[in-house]
Amino acid sequence: MLIDLIAGARPNFMKIAPIIRALEDSLAQGGSLDYRLVHTGQHYESNLSGVFFEQLGIPEPDVNLDVGSGSQAEQTAAIMTRYESLLLKKPVNLCLVVGDVNSTMACAIAAQKLCIPVAHVEGGIRSGDWSMPEEINRMVTDSITNWFFITSEFSNENLRKAGVEAERIHFVGNTMIDTLMANLERLRPPAFWDELSLEPKGYFVTTLHRPSNVDTKDQLMTLLKAITDGTRGFPVLFPVHPRTSKTLQALDELPVAIILVEPQPYLEFNYLVRHAKAVITDSGGITEETTVMGVPCLTLRDSTERPETVTQGTNELIGTNPNALQIALDRLFAGQWKTGVIPEKWDGNTGKRIVKVLETLHRLEKV
Ligand code: UD1
Repeated sequence: MLIDLIAGARPNFMKIAPIIRALEDSLAQGGSLDYRLVHTGQHYESNLSGVFFEQLGIPEPDVNLDVGSGSQAEQTAAIMTRYESLLLKKPVNLCLVVGDVNSTMACAIAAQKLCIPVAHVEGGIRSGDWSMPEEINRMVTDSITNWFFITSEFSNENLRKAGVEAERIHFVGNTMIDTLMANLERLRPPAFWDELSLEPKGYFVTTLHRPSNVDTKDQLMTLLKAITDGTRGFPVLFPVHPRTSKTLQALDELPVAIILVEPQPYLEFNYLVRHAKAVITDSGGITEETTVMGVPCLTLRDSTERPETVTQGTNELIGTNPNALQIALDRLFAGQWKTGVIPEKWDGNTGKRIVKVLETLHRLEKV
């Protein structure tokens, strides 16, 4: 049986790596699940893509669709057109997508319209916020997914409410955490660690790339000011996503504590996170990593699709009101941040569980 593994943008690469490893292990033991790795090319620059393949030991993609950037519709359409053409030339038995980026939804649609079943890793998560392109991607993908691999019981509830039968849902844990656990001992400081004389718990890390936070100068400046007002002169390291970079370049000046750095490779980024006093972010995936590493996380959004990082982990939803951030940071400095626990099945074995389920489905001739 041949499975397409779809990866397109930075947060996909850490989710796909453990599935590849588990498939390789199964193949080495005579398993019958083979795969084709398809990179859509949604992220194409080395620092958002190639370096993750190198550091995480992901093999060269079998196919690169080279779609590049575009508006939401342009990018989605380009991925669908090129992926459909690949499937018509060389069909597969199953299309496995991960996460919630445009590549996830576009490939699921192209496959399902050719009657190729779809498996969705990280299916069922919902923020309820339709202004996020990722939420649309999640809803559309899940409405045409055959097999769901979920990270928590919250996803189970969301899918059951949408009428998905229990036998199509598999609670396997979190592949992103497989990657984190496999690499914890390999994390290493970036070159600027010494240059900036950084010390554990002596700095903050911030990441911002949501369109609503970074696409206008005023909003981005308001957030950066709120962050530096509350962090009491500590350096704030800010690895800048290309989307954010465009707006930053248009700002007249930056608060002095903000230190802009390039998007960081996986091992360096998570080293910075692991040793940070706290992380201030609008990302979803990072809140899972901070939860596992026990690092306080302040999320500059009003909703999350990963509620377990708040109810069980170290994450708190702050929103984008500067006063709320100030109050939360005061609590952090007073040593009153929660410690949290690691959610169920976030244990490093999710890739293996997924492959086991796929083998069973194949044996039962369901895929
Ligand atoms: C995408 C995902 C988001 C994910 C994020 C992580 C969607 C809808 N969004 O958002 O869920 O958290 O990736 O990074 O799929 N660009 C470059 N170089 C690249 C890639 C992109 O300069 O290698 C530029 C593009 O030209 C564009 C901007 O970055 O201006 C946005 O890229 P895009 O892939 O459209 O969305 P992201 O904001 O990266």
